[in-house]
Amino acid sequence: MYVLGIETSCDETGVAIYHTGRGLINHLLYSQVEMHSEYGGVVPELASRDHIRKLVPLIKQSLQESQLKSTDINGIAYTAGPGLMGALLVGAATARSLAWTWQIPAVAVHHMEGHLLAPMLEENPPEFPFVALLISGGHTLLVQVEGIGSYQLLGESLDDAAGEAFDKTAKMLGLGYPGGPKLAALAEHGKPQIKFPRPMTDRPGLDFSFSGLKTFTLNTINASEKTGKDKADIAAAFQQAVAETLSIKCKRALQQTGLKSLVVAGGVSANKQIRASLTEMAAKEHAQIYFPRLEFCTDNGAMIAYAGSQRLMAGQQQGLDIFARPRWPMSELS
Ligand code: KG4
Ligand code: ZN
Repeated sequence: MYVLGIETSCDETGVAIYHTGRGLINHLLYSQVEMHSEYGGVVPELASRDHIRKLVPLIKQSLQESQLKSTDINGIAYTAGPGLMGALLVGAATARSLAWTWQIPAVAVHHMEGHLLAPMLEENPPEFPFVALLISGGHTLLVQVEGIGSYQLLGESLDDAAGEAFDKTAKMLGLGYPGGPKLAALAEHGKPQIKFPRPMTDRPGLDFSFSGLKTFTLNTINASEKTGKDKADIAAAFQQAVAETLSIKCKRALQQTGLKSLVVAGGVSANKQIRASLTEMAAKEHAQIYFPRLEFCTDNGAMIAYAGSQRLMAGQQQGLDIFARPRWPMSELS
């Protein structure tokens, strides 16, 4: 079964073709980063318009590069949420229209389920059950995964998501958008000499809170004029605090569930220090750890094609209505 995957939930237009027997055939990504960077963040209306411009040409290119015809495609998977409403509607309307024209099923995919299943595209995929840490721009979730659609929430961020904390801290440090990778690059030149808090690690539970780190960073930046601490050191200390906090909570989640397998996905899982710190923790816990390859940590069409293929194979599909949900709790999936 050939599945066309479409991702348009935020500032990346992703298209991919996944075959249930042959694996990933092709994937293409158009990033709007350059356009939004002028404004210091994603401008939703501009995002929607750019998806409209880029999506159909990318689908054509993907078919061409795969040497497939539209009649070869057996199903379409599209991100239906969570995300920006206008951006989601571009993907949903295009997917639904193509499915109707080609007379094939279309299935709505939850963006975070896409992230969660991204490591399944790798050579050595995880086996159910596992604990998943999903760290993106909009979400920080710890989930116990028994199988596709069986997601039990273990913990989540009570305020900022991990990626959001990176982006806001980067802004305070005068780095541009998107902040996460820029802060990570700066941190490589610094030393974590200042001890940042590890929020909510001194009490039981698996929830996160990252907004206090922002205030701490701001105070450190303000004081740095007197103390002479440079920005790279502040970035390094912030990054280390996030990495350690995530590791402490993941260790707790593994111990609490008794599971020996940890999946880490979402944009922030591209962070080298976070990968290293979680890998070290997993080794000490005698647990296996799985990450997507770097290009599938951030938004992409491949993860949507894969997640959709699993749901289509289970016989799921959407009606003719155009379904998009900017807010969509993962717990509502089945
Ligand atoms: O999953 P994603 O591409 O989009 C959402 O679903 O939100 O995640 C984007 C987030 C942004 O906050 C971005 O700054 C962050 O992931 N990010 C990183 C890195 N690469 C992307 N954060 C820290 N270090 C990175 N290397
Ligand atoms: Zn994402």
